[in-house]
Parts: sequence; structure tokens; C-alpha cells
Amino acid sequence: MTASTGLKLVERDASGVDRAFRADVLAGLAQPQKAIPARWFYDDAGSELFEDITRLPEYYATRAETEILRARSGEIADLVGPGRAVVEFGSGSSVKTPLLLSAIDPSAYVPLDIAGDFLRASSAALAEKFPGLPVWPVEADFMRRVELPAEAAQLPKLGFFPGSTIGNMIARTATDLLRSMRETLGEGAMLLIGMDLVKDESVLTAAYDDAAGVTAAFNLNLLTRINRELDGDIDVEAFRHEARWNDTFARIEMHLVARADVSFTVSGQPFAMRAGTSIHTENSHKFTRRSAQTLLAAGGWEPRGRWTDSAGQFMLVLAEACAPRSAP
Ligand code: TRP
Repeated sequence: MTASTGLKLVERDASGVDRAFRADVLAGLAQPQKAIPARWFYDDAGSELFEDITRLPEYYATRAETEILRARSGEIADLVGPGRAVVEFGSGSSVKTPLLLSAIDPSAYVPLDIAGDFLRASSAALAEKFPGLPVWPVEADFMRRVELPAEAAQLPKLGFFPGSTIGNMIARTATDLLRSMRETLGEGAMLLIGMDLVKDESVLTAAYDDAAGVTAAFNLNLLTRINRELDGDIDVEAFRHEARWNDTFARIEMHLVARADVSFTVSGQPFAMRAGTSIHTENSHKFTRRSAQTLLAAGGWEPRGRWTDSAGQFMLVLAEACAPRSAP
């Protein structure tokens, strides 16, 4: 059922360590502003904590996006039309995908995910919910152009990229991704994309630093993972979670801040941090109607419809691939 890319997605060394994880952590900790790519949050514990985040009272984004899909599915269906193959970037275990699929009369569902086991499990669950809908999961890194299954080649496509995951990338990476999505999906494609909106700073910081401490546990779990998988001796208690608004980039940043001067080793390499300095672990960019349109245009997509939830917190954009053109 799964179309294989033929590539090994995870390379392990002789002791079973994910080479890319070690390389990213060691390089990231060697920088003046330490930073580790957010993709490494998602070990088993991290994935579970993330599911908990989506249900937090302070974390409005998942509820707001679901509300939009429920309330506006008719309008979305009218613009999308029937018979499209829905290609989801990062296959959802969530309630959002069934909402979309039952609204638009699709011809197939093609979930893309780098985590093969998770992909197969969520695909099987979805196929059961939609008997008669072909489901063709593809295990792939969607940050690059993906070869879709041959059966999907002739079908018109609708890309689905919910959760404001686009906001977790800096502008250059987000633009590259939008462009490679256009290549993956082909001519005449449409894209339904969730983008979180700029709002009151206190609402934003609360959403990324909840009272129950779930987001803090999610962030700190990265250090536990480093200790376990990369033979680290980091004192996790010596760090605290911080969510801060960066106004220049219109984004929430998550940091792991050293409570005191600390030193530790990872894979035999020594590191030291001064009290108050941090490891930067996540960005979550927030958009306005205008900045969303600018980013989409840079990636080759033109908005055809936009919807927000009743509280105006989150935006879903339906865009159409536009012909590449060179401008002066
Ligand atoms: N893309 C979502 C957001 O930025 C979900 C998300 C990704 C998230 N990483 C996170 C939420 C870390 C909280 C903490 O909001």
C-alpha cells in the first residue's frame, strides 16, 4: 500500500544513534545562540505531550481551526470542487482530516509523513472511516519535492497543510516548502493551509506557556531525549521553559533557559552556559492577512478564499497554484 521512496529516512550509526539528531544537536549547541531544530521534539514522549498541548485551554489554535473547518466546509467544497486527490503534508491523526474529506467528495487521500509506523496506523484508521476512498500513504520528507503514487498522477490535487505548521519555519524555509509543494502537486493544484494570526501578546505567550506546565514539559523533554539517545548528562532541572514574543519577526519563540551557570557533555563533547542564556528550540510565526498573502505569493500560491474562526484567532486560506513568472 505504501509507495516507497527507496531512501533510508533515518540513518543510524553502529550504536543505533540517529546520525542527523547527533549532528544537529552538536552543531546547534556549538553556536553562540544555541539552537536545536524543532523536529527533534517528537520522540514518543514528545508526540504524546504534543497531543496534550492541542487540548489545553490556553492553546486555541487546534480548536479554532477545527471550528473553521466545521463552519465553512460548504464554502470550501464549492471552491475546491469534487474529484481531487487530497495530499496531506504530515498525516493527521486528528479530527481535521475527516472533516475535510467528508466535505469535499475527494477521489483519493494521499497522506505524506516521515514517520512510517504512525503513517500506516493513521492511514488504516482513515481508510476504515471512508470505505471506497483510495488511500495511498507515502513515507517521505515533505520538505523536498515528493514523487506521488502513479495512480494519483492524473488526478487534480488539493494540498492540505493544517496546524500553522508553516509558521514553524523561517520565511526562507517556508517559501522553499510552498514552492516544492507546488511542484509535488502539479498544475491546477489548490492548497488549504492553516495560518495562525497575530494577536494580543498575553494570549500568545499563555498558549505557549500554559498554567499546567504541559508545554514546559514538552520543551524540557528535548533535554531528556538528548541525555538518553546521545549519551548526555544535562541536568534538566537546571533549565526552565520560556515562551517569548519576538516582535521583529512576529513570532513566539520557545527557549530552554539556564537557571544558573551550567556545564554538561553530549556524546563526549563539553558545553557550558551562563545563567540566563538559552537554547532556542522553536519558532511559531504569526500572520496577518497581508503577511500571509505575501508569503504565499512568494511560494507561488494565490489566495482564493480566507476564513477565520468566530473569535478571529486563526485563519484558513485556500490558495491556487499560480503560473511561475519572472518579474523585473
Ligand atoms: N504549529 C503549531 C504552533 O506553532 C503547533 C506547534 C508546533 C506547537 N510546535 C509547538 C505548539 C510547540 C506548542 C509548542 O502553534
